[in-house]
Amino acid sequence: MQNEHASHTALLIAASLVLLRHDSKHSGLVSKASADFCAQMLETHSPQTRLFLKIVRQGWFRPVAKLIERITIPGILLHYILRKRCIATLARSALTNGATQVVVVGAGFDPLSFELHQDSPGVQFWEIDHPATQRHKLRALPKIGIERLHFVAVDLSATGLDRQALIKSSFDPTQRTFWIAEGLLMYLPADKVSSLMRTLSSLSAPGSQFAFTFMEKQGGGLLRFDSQSKLVDWWLRTRGEPFLWGTERGEVVELARPWRVIRFFDHDDLRQMDSGLADEPIAKGEMICLAEV
Ligand SMILES: C[S@@+](CC[C@H](N)C(=O)[O-])C[C@H]1O[C@@H](n2cnc3c(N)ncnc32)[C@H](O)[C@@H]1O
Repeated sequence: MQNEHASHTALLIAASLVLLRHDSKHSGLVSKASADFCAQMLETHSPQTRLFLKIVRQGWFRPVAKLIERITIPGILLHYILRKRCIATLARSALTNGATQVVVVGAGFDPLSFELHQDSPGVQFWEIDHPATQRHKLRALPKIGIERLHFVAVDLSATGLDRQALIKSSFDPTQRTFWIAEGLLMYLPADKVSSLMRTLSSLSAPGSQFAFTFMEKQGGGLLRFDSQSKLVDWWLRTRGEPFLWGTERGEVVELARPWRVIRFFDHDDLRQMDSGLADEPIAKGEMICLAEV
């Protein structure tokens, strides 16, 4: 990740949510609150993202966006939103079953902790992110009613996560926690992924869960979505966000220990979340894993 700029991929995901909300066929997949939150992030970030926000809200841009999607990663927009819905469902279920803390690592401009914060009195929330991304989120978010939401800025590729930094910001390792690392681990070197897994487990009371996503290695060890074009490889590289790490399902079981893998969700599982998606392309290659200690 570039040190001065907020994550471009995080901004792109925020714009994707706004775009889908304005698409009559898929607007039901994105809540108004989520789309408004993402719009606020884009509105505040820079004059360029403000202009981009105006564009993605225009009807004429929808066919253009579809074309861009077709020549980059077909089905990526649905992948983003279904990935979010899947993780939100897992988080809500963990809260129902007694988790009292939620930590989103590499949170980007994701609205989940704000939405859960409103629905879950008594639960504490943390967002951990690269300082270059997090400072923009802090600048953009509504200043009221977020007293149970804490922010920790850290470059996970450089220093890794310091247990004390989290504990100092009121995190309690004796409480049951739901951890999320969505769209993050592919940007970290392998040794940082393993040490993050270990650090999170060392901060987790029994029954805590971890939902994370990873790129499934393709033939020849390639790290990319199944249908990803070279244009995307180039874009990620020039933005300083190339994919660095990926693995296979079998390897995750070993690598995640002491986390115990409960289940994986692939593009077919995501498709089943909505009956109207039977014939729609959904990008294939990034898996969700739910694990527990
Ligand atoms: C693709 S975005 C995903 C954002 C969000 N989780 C979502 O799914 O909408 C990647 C996120 O990882 C964060 N990230 C990437 N490299 C990082 C690093 N070295 N340290 C901390 N965060 C990092 C970025 O700041 C960004 O928020």
